[in-house]
Amino acid sequence: MSERPIPTAPTVQVFDDVPALTEAACRFVIERAQEAIAAHPKFTLALTGGSTPRGLYQRLSEHPTLPWDRFELFFGDERAVPLDHPDSNAGMARDTLTRHPFVPPERVHRMRGELPVEEAAADYEATLRRLFPEAAASAGVPRFDLLLLGLGPDAHVASLFPGSSALHEQKAWVVSNWVDKLGVDRITLTYPVLNQAANTLFLVAGADKAWAVQEALQGQLSLDEAPVRGVRPLSGKVTFMIDRTAAAKLSGDLGQPRASGRFLG
Ligand code: 6PG
Repeated sequence: MSERPIPTAPTVQVFDDVPALTEAACRFVIERAQEAIAAHPKFTLALTGGSTPRGLYQRLSEHPTLPWDRFELFFGDERAVPLDHPDSNAGMARDTLTRHPFVPPERVHRMRGELPVEEAAADYEATLRRLFPEAAASAGVPRFDLLLLGLGPDAHVASLFPGSSALHEQKAWVVSNWVDKLGVDRITLTYPVLNQAANTLFLVAGADKAWAVQEALQGQLSLDEAPVRGVRPLSGKVTFMIDRTAAAKLSGDLGQPRASGRFLG
């Protein structure tokens, strides 16, 4: 009986501080973009929300000569708020990157958080089906060239939170998700889409993330208890870029700052 393939172990890179992490992440995104654009007509990049990626988006905005017209920018999740709300992930990306004239607005595909959440989820799924016609036609799943993810202190990713209903969605690409602990609705990509990405880059900084990082890389909890553990692409590559404080609970030399390292399993 053929063994279920084992996902490729993540690469773990630990940095002394956030500026060093941000610099490396910027180089990583540019390299994946150049690879993707050399191989096919566009670079599909799913942005993450939260605060950690702000610096990365600002650094990317300092590269106006990148082939931005070949990028297609998406979002991994969104809050149930309009674009101009301070909590909007698309609003944060606009303020740091997509407002620049070299990013064609028609290349930015945000989740419309101003809509009722179920409508927003269906609207975004329709957007993905339009922009990934091969996946829609073959009952497949859209494959982002690069998916950016943050990590919450409770090990949530995107808006897949411990105990939330979206954790077990295996058909829809995008769902609305009630987050009990926050008392809010969210819109989020589901695991089938997250796990289809060709490359996944986690950006994680801060001592409050140390437990979640340890769970992600060396833990045994279920995805219900630690949703990051549900991110296990069978064919994509996963890279964790973490700062020293977020690596504090990792055992062995994995947690030591160095240019790059392999996750030892
Ligand atoms: C969101 C994000 C979420 C985020 C983590 C980490 O909408 O908030 O998608 O998953 O990445 O909560 O957020 P920080 O980078 O702010 O720690």
